[in-house]
Amino acid sequence: MVFRIPGVYRPQADTWLLAETLRRAPLPRGGSVLDVCAGTGILGCTAAGLLGARLTAVDISRRALASAWLNCRARGVPVRLVHGGFESARALPRFDVVVANPPYVPAPGTPRRGRARAWDAGPDGRSVLDRLCATLPDLLTERGVAFIVHSALSDAERTVTQLRAGLAGTSVIARASVAFGPVLRSRSAWLAERGLIEKTQRTEELVVIRAEREPSVELALP
Ligand SMILES: C[S@@+](CC[C@H](N)C(=O)[O-])C[C@H]1O[C@@H](n2cnc3c(N)ncnc32)[C@H](O)[C@@H]1O
Repeated sequence: MVFRIPGVYRPQADTWLLAETLRRAPLPRGGSVLDVCAGTGILGCTAAGLLGARLTAVDISRRALASAWLNCRARGVPVRLVHGGFESARALPRFDVVVANPPYVPAPGTPRRGRARAWDAGPDGRSVLDRLCATLPDLLTERGVAFIVHSALSDAERTVTQLRAGLAGTSVIARASVAFGPVLRSRSAWLAERGLIEKTQRTEELVVIRAEREPSVELALP
């Protein structure tokens, strides 16, 4: 069960895709975990629980942080809450694992307040993603690893290219096709007008991107 104070982003397909990927990923034991757009905190809590690590949860919403506190408390995960934009984590010691499910939905505008701040991210869906890609190298320890989930509608290749500038070991490690939720359904005509989807398209692809400083060494099979 996930505690969620009204108004906080309800964990859904993107959350669960990243949570499932974390469960299957080889991760360093111990250490520290940062959840940069925490919402209910369930992603950070999952990672910290798997690693026996301490979690730092950052969000611009106080309600989100209160939900994260409840979820961590219920799971016995020690958590530090940071209210503010994710860039404020730059002032903290670096982290071994960073998880992020940021706002990424293409939208006619960028909301300054209200629930849509949890998902809307400007006309190309990158008002948060571009800043996150620029900030991530400063948040990770030398051997740290970051995991980001977002929609292919907001340009996964651009995320990979931007991250590789500071984190050479960046690649897409999971994909899933999911039906449009109510937000995308309500703006499908606008998305088609911008050429982001076909007129009849009603599914999007979610991607999980893993980023670290060095490319993982692939063992050659005989
Ligand atoms: C898509 S929700 C994801 C929530 C949760 N991680 C999950 O996967 O269910 C994005 C969250 O980012 C927060 N947020 C939006 N802009 C932010 C920013 N600049 N810095 C930190 N958090 C932000 C929102 O309040 C919201 O809780």
